[in-house]
Amino acid sequence: MSKRNITVRSLLEMKSAGEKICVLTSYDASFTRMIEAAGIEVILVGDSLGMVIQGQESTLPVTLEEMIYHTRNVARGRESALLVADMPFMSYRSPSLAMESAGRLMKEGGAHMVKLEGGAAQLEAIRQLASQGIPVCGHLGLLPQSVHKLGGYRVQGREQRDATLIREDARLLQEAGVDMLVLECVPNQLAAQITAELSIPVIGIGAGPDCDGQVLVLYDMIGLNPNPPRFVKNFLQSGRTIQEALQAYADAVRSGAFPTAEHGFE
Ligand code: KIV
Repeated sequence: MSKRNITVRSLLEMKSAGEKICVLTSYDASFTRMIEAAGIEVILVGDSLGMVIQGQESTLPVTLEEMIYHTRNVARGRESALLVADMPFMSYRSPSLAMESAGRLMKEGGAHMVKLEGGAAQLEAIRQLASQGIPVCGHLGLLPQSVHKLGGYRVQGREQRDATLIREDARLLQEAGVDMLVLECVPNQLAAQITAELSIPVIGIGAGPDCDGQVLVLYDMIGLNPNPPRFVKNFLQSGRTIQEALQAYADAVRSGAFPTAEHGFE
């Protein structure tokens, strides 16, 4: 029996029902088939591929052509998960360029939703994408594409002023039309507050246990990162196969066993 397609609507229903949403990155068809077999609801073709596939120091060199190539490969292995593709650095620097890039990720790559980083500066692009029926995922907190401006991969929103800005950005993104929000490396309490304030699903990474769902970079959760950040858990331990590790991740997210407060920040 074929599985039910996950849509923006199903994710909203999951949030309302208090069911945790499992998200994982993927970059190729083979891992995507295994992620599907574990029943993970959302697959993100992250521009983290710049680091984990290409060995770059950041996500900045990743091109739109590369994102389309990997999204197309993931689409071939996809069965029912919602397929989200990252808009790479500089591919949405104006609303018209954002429309062009999102259109290509959807038409040529087969993405169902596009993700872009940033708050108030992205509102016009988001409004235009939403007006054309393009689902959008926002990304706040630690913005890897702004690593040089942020001065490194650091927790964001620890100061009251920064926390207020992130909260305000989250509200503005929702008003502009985003359908989902990733919160990366923000204090647990701030993530919990934003999750409670928004009606759209909030997916955490390094954001503690109280978001509506969780995302990890696939290669991190199967132990391929020699220096994993503290919010990562290696699910390939205990003599598991990769398929068992993916299932353990999905089960742990659904039951609330992962992430715990230690996988986030004070
Ligand atoms: O590029 C990526 O993989 C991401 C996740 C870490 C959220 O944006």
